[in-house]
Amino acid sequence: MSGGHRYRRASKATTLATLAAKKAANEPIVMVTAYDHPSARIADEVGVDLVLVGDSAANVVLGYESTVPVTVAEMLVLTGAVRRGLESALLVADLPFGSYEASDEQAVRTAQRFVKEAGADAIKLERGGTSVARARAVIQAGIPVMGHVGLTPQAATALGGYRVQGRTAVQAEQLIHDALDLQSAGCFAIVLEAVPAAVTELLAPLLSCVVIGIGAGSATDGQVLVWHDLLGLNHGHVAKFVRRFADLRAEAIRGLGAYAAAVRQREFPAPENTYLMAPEELEALRTRLEAGSAQPGSQN
Ligand code: KIV
Repeated sequence: MSGGHRYRRASKATTLATLAAKKAANEPIVMVTAYDHPSARIADEVGVDLVLVGDSAANVVLGYESTVPVTVAEMLVLTGAVRRGLESALLVADLPFGSYEASDEQAVRTAQRFVKEAGADAIKLERGGTSVARARAVIQAGIPVMGHVGLTPQAATALGGYRVQGRTAVQAEQLIHDALDLQSAGCFAIVLEAVPAAVTELLAPLLSCVVIGIGAGSATDGQVLVWHDLLGLNHGHVAKFVRRFADLRAEAIRGLGAYAAAVRQREFPAPENTYLMAPEELEALRTRLEAGSAQPGSQN
C-alpha cells in the first residue's frame, strides 16, 4: 500500500450531513469533475461542494476512446492528486469498469483502495441491477456510495451508444426502479445522466437522497459537469447538456503560440527571466578558464 495522501481538511469541509442539509434547505449543490492537483485547488477556492474524479478521465485526460479501458491504477493516481488539492469539497472517485461488477468482495476491495490509497471520501459506481448489491456491500463496509443511472458510459455499447435514456415509459420506469433500489441500498446521492427532464421531475420527489443531474433538467438538488467541457478545454463534439462557461482551449492556444513565437524570435527569456552573477565571481571564473581549468580531465 502506498498511502501518502496527506492533506488538510478545512473545519467547514463538506460532509454527507452538509449535503443533506443543503437538500433540505433547497440550496443547489455544485459538483464538478477534476483530475489533477491544480484543478482541485481551483474547485476548492470557488467553493464547489463535491469533486468527482470521474472515469471520464479516460476520455478527457488520457485520450482513450471510451471510459472502458481506464484502470484502477490510473484512477488511483488521479484521485490522489485531486485529494492533495482539496481541503473543503467532498471527494468522490469513480470505480472504473471491471473493478467492481464481478462480486461484492471485488467491489469492497476496490472501494477500499480508493479510500485507503488515494484518500477518496466516497466512491461512485454505475447502473442499477447487480450494481445495487455492490453498492450495498460497499456501504456496509463503511464507505459512502454515489449511484449513477440513465446514460452510464461504462455500458454505452449495451445502451446503444451515448444517447438519452428513459425516453419510453418502459425505460423510464426501469430507470426509476434502479434509482429507488440504489437509494434503498443506502446511496447518499444518485447521478441522473441524460434523461428527459420530465422523468427527473417524476423521480426526484421520490428520492430522499441527494440527486445530482447532468443532462437531466433542473428538478435536481444539484448539477455536475465535466471540467474540460464546462471550461472549453475539449475540441470536437459537445453534448447538448454542456454549457461552456469559458474557452480555455483558445486561451491555451493563444498563450502557447505566444511562447513559441517569443522563443523563435529570441525575445524570451528577457533580462527579467535571467539570473545574474556577481561581477567579481564572473571575473574569477574567466581567470580560471584562461588558466586552463576547463580542459578535459583537469579539475582543480
Ligand atoms: O465520469 C464522469 O465524469 C461522470 C460524470 C459525468 C457524472 O460520471
